[in-house]
Amino acid sequence: MRTPLVVGNWKMHLSRDEAGALAGEIRNKLDISPDQVGVAVCPPFPYLSAVHAVLAGGPVALGAQDGHWAPQGAYTGWVSMQMLVDVGCRYVIIGHSERRQFAQETDTDIGKKVKAGLGQGLAVILCVGETGPERDGGITYDVVMRQLSGALEGLSGAECDNLIIAYEPVWAIGTGKTATPAMAQEVHSFIRSWMEKRWGFGAAQKLIILYGGSVKPDNMRTLAAMHDIDGALVGGASLGAQGFLEIVRQADAGKR
Ligand code: 13P
Repeated sequence: MRTPLVVGNWKMHLSRDEAGALAGEIRNKLDISPDQVGVAVCPPFPYLSAVHAVLAGGPVALGAQDGHWAPQGAYTGWVSMQMLVDVGCRYVIIGHSERRQFAQETDTDIGKKVKAGLGQGLAVILCVGETGPERDGGITYDVVMRQLSGALEGLSGAECDNLIIAYEPVWAIGTGKTATPAMAQEVHSFIRSWMEKRWGFGAAQKLIILYGGSVKPDNMRTLAAMHDIDGALVGGASLGAQGFLEIVRQADAGKR
């Protein structure tokens, strides 16, 4: 069986002190073991080292919110996957809808980043998901399929051992509108079947598929109870230790 995973995406929030304190509280109060639910937090770049120092040796892993495909070079303002590994990251989020929207990231850019992250041994959380008009227009599956094939082109199943998919419907992010468990399950199951056709049954069964979009302590359990929902990528509700830890507990409860 797949071990569920709950990842906090802190986006562009918190001060350095607040980030350290939040990480410390999550580490100290986490009461679910890593073999029940994996837990990671993704602070803004400038705080990665400080948060790593707080988390080191504990059960909560560190992740980053993006990374460039080149190992180094003249890329002002960017951060490479090697640098993320160097400061202790185990995860990297790639292709978040906010980067697709505000940084004009294309599926080709995202594909290069996915390969670079996996190549550096990072667990890559690839985000996919449709906008509201795309859902209303009945093209959710086309969009998700385009995003998956664009980002994973040329990768073999073996190379993707460390790949995680996050299904984040754009209309559910930061809006308080969550996809119903049944709606999310439909897309998760579609993603798993797509992977099965590409890489076979074994690889598809192992694939962790997270749901993201207004996940809260009170909706995590019913989402996690769905067969193909293996945890969550949490934005707003990951900025408080109590609520985030409750989401971790509910992810565990939903799988029992
Ligand atoms: P919210 O949980 O704030 O809706 O954000 C979801 C998200 O974008 C996580 O990456």
